[in-house]
Amino acid sequence: MSFRDQLLATVPEQLQEHLPNTYQQLGSICIFSLPAAVKSYKQAIGDAVLKVYPRFTTVCVQRGPISGELRQPTIERIAGNGTETVHKEHGILFHLDVTKVMFSKGNLAERKLLIPLVQPNEVVIDMFAGIGYFSLGIAKQVPVTLFAIEKNPDAVFYLKKNIVANKITNVTVVEGDCRTVSIPQKADRILMGYFPNTAQFLPTAFRMAKDTATIHYHDVGKHLRETIERHAKNAGFTVTAFSEHIVKSVGPRTNHVVCDVVVEKGLR
Ligand SMILES: C[S@@+](CC[C@H](N)C(=O)[O-])C[C@H]1O[C@@H](n2cnc3c(N)ncnc32)[C@H](O)[C@@H]1O
Repeated sequence: MSFRDQLLATVPEQLQEHLPNTYQQLGSICIFSLPAAVKSYKQAIGDAVLKVYPRFTTVCVQRGPISGELRQPTIERIAGNGTETVHKEHGILFHLDVTKVMFSKGNLAERKLLIPLVQPNEVVIDMFAGIGYFSLGIAKQVPVTLFAIEKNPDAVFYLKKNIVANKITNVTVVEGDCRTVSIPQKADRILMGYFPNTAQFLPTAFRMAKDTATIHYHDVGKHLRETIERHAKNAGFTVTAFSEHIVKSVGPRTNHVVCDVVVEKGLR
């Protein structure tokens, strides 16, 4: 029986087509969007989900997109207790409060793809670490020195908690804006897991880079290679290798793209 079929009894027959048919699971929390037509039935819908799916402790609705510089979710609890959970992905435990920090399941494949690219003994700087989406998988599997920068205090709280929960010892958390914090070492590899308008952070990335470095640049839009090459030139670097691939669709004809870029000091 589909998710929607399980909830049919919660609303009048003429509204049943508006019931959600898909949901996202983060740890023990069930999250879905609720169209305006059935919003007033949210309590009954939430209670029904808890009854039908005992694996869920809490039911939440997504009221809007993840927004703002700090990528805060707009999520409301409609049934159950607590909005904090532990989500497991690729063997890593992520403690999070779903109403305070984001978690994008759409980036799951990208988080896995990155790990084998990282070499032992590299210095890695994650400019937008969040609760450790990229940093923890890398640091757990590869003996690197990793600096995880994050500006949102709620994300920093869970990042620190997740480092302890996963028994990780090679990550230094740096709280603050990546453009102004100071990092004691230059990086072999820089993660720029933030979009849109990621280019505004490229001058900082080049400032953090060793003479040869790899940058994983996330953004949406076109002409990303030209943008990166322009910033590289301004910083006295040359792009010596470039590839890009789509992570996920984020709107009509709009994709979240990652550019894997090798840069070397000096202009050619
Ligand atoms: C989109 S999230 C990271 C998502 C992640 N790449 C994934 O796989 O799901 C971006 C993070 O960057 C943080 N952030 C935004 N601007 C920042 C800045 N200037 N310096 C440091 N962190 C920042 C936000 O608080 C947020 O936690």
